[in-house]
Amino acid sequence: MYSDLMLKTWLQEHTLQAQAVKDGPAFYRNLEQALDIRRADQGLMTAKPRWDQSVVDWTTSDFLSLNRSGRIREAFLEEIARHENFVLSASGSRVQYGNYPYINEVEREISTFFGAETAFITHTGFHANVNAVAAVPLPGDAILYDELVHASTHEGMKLSVAAHKISFRHNDVDSLYDALISLRDSHSAFKLGTQSILICVESIYSMKGDVCPIKAFIDISKELFPLGNAQFLIDEAHSVGVLGPNGRGLISMLGLENEIAIRIHMCSKALASTGGIILCNKTIRRVLIHRATYVSTSGAPSFPMVASMRAGIHLLMNGETKKAQDDIQNIAKYFFGTLISNPIWEEAVDEGLLTCPNSDDWEARPFLTHIAPIFTRPGHEKYLFFHLLLCNMNAYNISPPIIPKGTALVRFVFHAHNTREEVDATVAAICDWAREMLDIEKGKFESTLPSAARHVYALQAAM
Ligand SMILES: Cc1ncc(COP(=O)(O)O)c(C=O)c1O
Repeated sequence: MYSDLMLKTWLQEHTLQAQAVKDGPAFYRNLEQALDIRRADQGLMTAKPRWDQSVVDWTTSDFLSLNRSGRIREAFLEEIARHENFVLSASGSRVQYGNYPYINEVEREISTFFGAETAFITHTGFHANVNAVAAVPLPGDAILYDELVHASTHEGMKLSVAAHKISFRHNDVDSLYDALISLRDSHSAFKLGTQSILICVESIYSMKGDVCPIKAFIDISKELFPLGNAQFLIDEAHSVGVLGPNGRGLISMLGLENEIAIRIHMCSKALASTGGIILCNKTIRRVLIHRATYVSTSGAPSFPMVASMRAGIHLLMNGETKKAQDDIQNIAKYFFGTLISNPIWEEAVDEGLLTCPNSDDWEARPFLTHIAPIFTRPGHEKYLFFHLLLCNMNAYNISPPIIPKGTALVRFVFHAHNTREEVDATVAAICDWAREMLDIEKGKFESTLPSAARHVYALQAAM
């Protein structure tokens, strides 16, 4: 069973190493010592063995099931067949030989589909964020960012010459308002429009699965900066394929294409390939080419990569993914309905053991997202992860620093390929675990550890 392989690998990776390499070169011993600190608290990032389709998938980024079904592979091979004389490598950066006709053709097609003036392709979504955030703000400018933005935005900020890098509370209109007012009133250049502000947000947040109140954000930025020197960068990693007409994302769903300076889409998730797309106007595109060092000093994305991106975009364009988009909505509804109607779930919520904010009022929401975190007490997320894993279900446990200190969750990602039977079994497993934890808290058992955790720690002791 997958859990045996996964746990064996995970436990091996968590075996302390510094002592074993103490007589080797100090360079490596120092590195192993640093890793041992995370091994000791079982917080080491490890490369997990890949699982087969018998494992219930609450984890992968194959939201539309294009990878699992093989549909993206077929579309990719069809695209390759249409260009059988392709040249594999770009053989240069975009400012050199690497600006080849095919990549320009695909960018034009993508920009038309998403209703943007231009599109610019990067190797990954991570690169797209890093480069846009690093390159666009000028010296003296400001970056305001939602406190939960992705690591790639933070990496971009580290490289940026912006004078001000200020976070605001997650999805909080008042907090953004206060940050904008404070900039405007403390630096006349912002009021006069001679310095600019880039506001970085995401359509759907990857850990909480909640949606940015982008319309309200745009309204206040326009009200406070009527000269247009406050503009948005929105990361649509999680909304492309999942929201909007033909999966064009949140901004297209809301008809706000002309209100956003930079939209970033990723092909590594719902579109089942790889690569980033920066949707912007010609000015921003010129800035990226001129100021983003990764663009000028790195080989441009190669033909096979761009062809795989195009294959995914074509599936959106021709409507092939619409059913999968609806399937995600339906499985999300079924998950929440099943979860909240289970009496053990209700008791677990009342006792403060579990919560799932996205299940609150789910029936009243115009649409659901494909991400549902189940929050629990810090430390317990690992126990729930072990419990589900032993039931052959994969839903990852998440803890700080990926999420704020003092919080802990297990994240459920819904896919078109998830079934109602899988939901029934998973909700039953979550509630079995909750029952056990509630009984432990009431002192009904001698051990304070739930059975799945005891199993894992026994394996560890035997290693
Ligand atoms: C919100 C967000 N932005 C950016 C990225 C990076 O995208 P890519 O996988 O294309 O590098 C991710 C991927 O995890 C993400 O979740």
